[in-house]
Amino acid sequence: MTDLSIPSGSISIRDEVVLHAGDCLDFLRTIPDQAFQLIVTSPPYNLGKEYEKRIHLDDYLQQQQRVITECARTLSGTGSICWQVGNYVSNGEIVPLDAVLYPLFRDLGLKLRNRIIWHFEHGLHCSKRLSGRYETVLWFTKSDEYQFNLDPIRVPQKYPGKKHFKGPKAGQYSCNPLGKNPGDVWVIPNVKSNHVEKTSHPCQFPVELIERLVLSLTQPGDWVFDPFVGVGSSIIAAIKHGRRGAGAEILTEYVKIAEERIAKARNGELLTRPMGRPVFDPKDAGQYLTAAPWDQPPSKQQRLFQKSKTYST
Ligand SMILES: C[S@@+](CC[C@H](N)C(=O)[O-])C[C@H]1O[C@@H](n2cnc3c(N)ncnc32)[C@H](O)[C@@H]1O
Repeated sequence: MTDLSIPSGSISIRDEVVLHAGDCLDFLRTIPDQAFQLIVTSPPYNLGKEYEKRIHLDDYLQQQQRVITECARTLSGTGSICWQVGNYVSNGEIVPLDAVLYPLFRDLGLKLRNRIIWHFEHGLHCSKRLSGRYETVLWFTKSDEYQFNLDPIRVPQKYPGKKHFKGPKAGQYSCNPLGKNPGDVWVIPNVKSNHVEKTSHPCQFPVELIERLVLSLTQPGDWVFDPFVGVGSSIIAAIKHGRRGAGAEILTEYVKIAEERIAKARNGELLTRPMGRPVFDPKDAGQYLTAAPWDQPPSKQQRLFQKSKTYST
């Protein structure tokens, strides 16, 4: 296991958790090469939120490049970088940040393994374009010899008991009884006001999103690092599964919340939404007012139409 040198200004809890209250580049420059097994983050999107100053997109990309370069240096040879982003928006025009950030990773020799679509239901309601209901996670590895463990993140099969009915495998399960590969479209609620994990941070990760990455891309004892750790969600996902967590956060207000949440998580007292819990469905919950018109029982006239073999308009 790699040991981190703990820079001054950082909080170290028995070297299982390191929280740097300050700029991520200052922290990264103190870290030895290849120390981290997984680097996972959601950087500022340059949208002028309370924790960032809006700058020219080219300057933003240069800032990102400096952080990504240091992340690549501190990443283990078998390690992964997961960069979770949405859109930069200027005068109603969107720039998908994964598209403009991708070349920065590729130029450093990192290899893209998946572009995961993270779909969620809540967000701004747009009036001049479709409301954005997904963001992406770019998953890169440093080499072709990378750690990837599928079993801990398998999801239930649609037909788990299905068996081969003929041939040499007759009677054996035709699908993996441990579950199926979760695929690259992940439906996980984002953290809005009713979410059990909500803090005052406007854009925190749901812990379950990072748990999947931690479980599939690291082993117990490995270091997981988030350069823009906010209220500590990545560290929480890491320590929940026996990994070690490090992060940097520039705003004191969020560092304090991260410290409190991490302390609770270490005592097993932090409430997080369980991995794999089905997403709330208002129709299943009996709220029929939300049903779509085409889900209503057909009218007499529609029934007549459905019976006729040809339709005329
Ligand atoms: C999109 S938020 C990430 C939130 C995080 N995923 C969570 O679950 O709380 C980006 C965070 O990066 C922080 N930040 C911005 N610039 C930074 C820098 N140079 N070094 C460290 N943190 C920074 C912001 O204050 C903000 O909390």
